[in-house]
Amino acid sequence: MIVCLCKSLSERKIRQSIAEGACSVREVQHCTKAGTQCGACLEEIQNLIDQSGASGTSKGEFVHTQAPRSLDENDD
Ligand code: FES
Repeated sequence: MIVCLCKSLSERKIRQSIAEGACSVREVQHCTKAGTQCGACLEEIQNLIDQSGASGTSKGEFVHTQAPRSLDENDD
């Protein structure tokens, strides 16, 4: 089953990264790039971490990595 459609990453690949030591959503993002585009899969990634018992962070610690707003958007 594909968990991250944006990066075409399967549940198996994400479980593998958790088994190899990723114990937070941020670490799974770093290792696999899952969840680094639209963020729609972040809750499912957290669920997989929780199911594995590897969670080293509080539930719901999602990191959305879309680009920050440009500084040029400030009104001056
Ligand atoms: S579905 Fe994972 S970043 Fe979009």
